[in-house]
Amino acid sequence: MFNKITVVGAGHVGATQALRLAEMQVAKEIVIVDILEGIPQGKALDMYESGPVMGFDTRVIGANGYDEAAGSEIVVITAGIPRKPGMSRDDLLATNAGIVREVSNAVKKTSPDAICIVVSNPLDVMSYVAKETTGFPASRVFGMAGVLDTARYRTFIAERLKVSVEDIQALVLGGHGDTMVPLVSYTTVSGIPLTQFLGQDEIDGLIDRTRKGGAEIVAYLKEGSAYYAPSAAVAQMVEAIAKDKKRILPCAAWMEGQYGISDTYLGVPCKLGTGGVEEIIEVQLTKDEQAALEKSAEHVRGTIAKLKELT
Ligand code: NAI
Ligand code: 2OP
Repeated sequence: MFNKITVVGAGHVGATQALRLAEMQVAKEIVIVDILEGIPQGKALDMYESGPVMGFDTRVIGANGYDEAAGSEIVVITAGIPRKPGMSRDDLLATNAGIVREVSNAVKKTSPDAICIVVSNPLDVMSYVAKETTGFPASRVFGMAGVLDTARYRTFIAERLKVSVEDIQALVLGGHGDTMVPLVSYTTVSGIPLTQFLGQDEIDGLIDRTRKGGAEIVAYLKEGSAYYAPSAAVAQMVEAIAKDKKRILPCAAWMEGQYGISDTYLGVPCKLGTGGVEEIIEVQLTKDEQAALEKSAEHVRGTIAKLKELT
């Protein structure tokens, strides 16, 4: 078991995240850091007091600084503003870059050996900001998006076919946004290709809903974005790392020539263990999937360039 995992941001994603990790007992201590006075302390104490009922011994601590977080093995960065209806994830660029930079500087000083999982949006670009600011190797700085996007895709397929979500295997790659790339060629129902169950039009409809999955929730909530499925997705990644499971999960990873793509973060299948992203797995793609992945990489690169112009 890890000693300490820190979640930065005590908002919707951060608080739900901390509770999930405490209940999973993947570390002895979960530290929640937020700039809002009293909020991380209050939420942490409330969570800690649920331990006797829920049956966990994880210590949960809230703080406004990083002393308590020092020496964390994993830091999950959820600090930042979420989008409102009509906003794209890219609209959060400048504000969240400033926040992620500030957080990353503190993490670099206080938890120099940590693995950073970035959640703040726009996800792929914020992962880049965290890597640039911490100077950590790319294997220790990556983002959560693919597990969430894949979970949405799997949910919609299972719902349409009236089968268990457990029997849907799928991979959604690319950037976390409209250009994400659900891989139909790797979507199966208990190993049977999805194309044996549904025609192209229906599959296209499920893909479209997946691409707009985040916006669908924002349209309902109005004042914020999703957090139950996002925190579940991060929890799966944390568990893979803390237990050195070597799981293959889609993560936003720094590309160094894999799939012919470099100099950007992008969602690709990664092997996750105690070393973080221990390997980027290159799977065979159809011509269309490869073209879609390159287009998605171009979009993320463009947003990184936009950020550089702003700062
Ligand atoms: P929220 O507004 O509920 O919480 C954000 C928290 O960050 C607030 O409590 C705020 O005080 C805190 N914060 C702001 N600046 C800070 C700083 N410098 N240091 C520490 N804490 C700071 O937002 P929510 O819903 O929790 O979302 C957080 C971020 O995660 C958003 O950018 C959102 O777009 C993103 N997100 C990304 C997902 C993904 O798939 N990658 C999924 C869901 C959300
Ligand atoms: C989502 O996809 C907000 O990016 C977040 O729900």
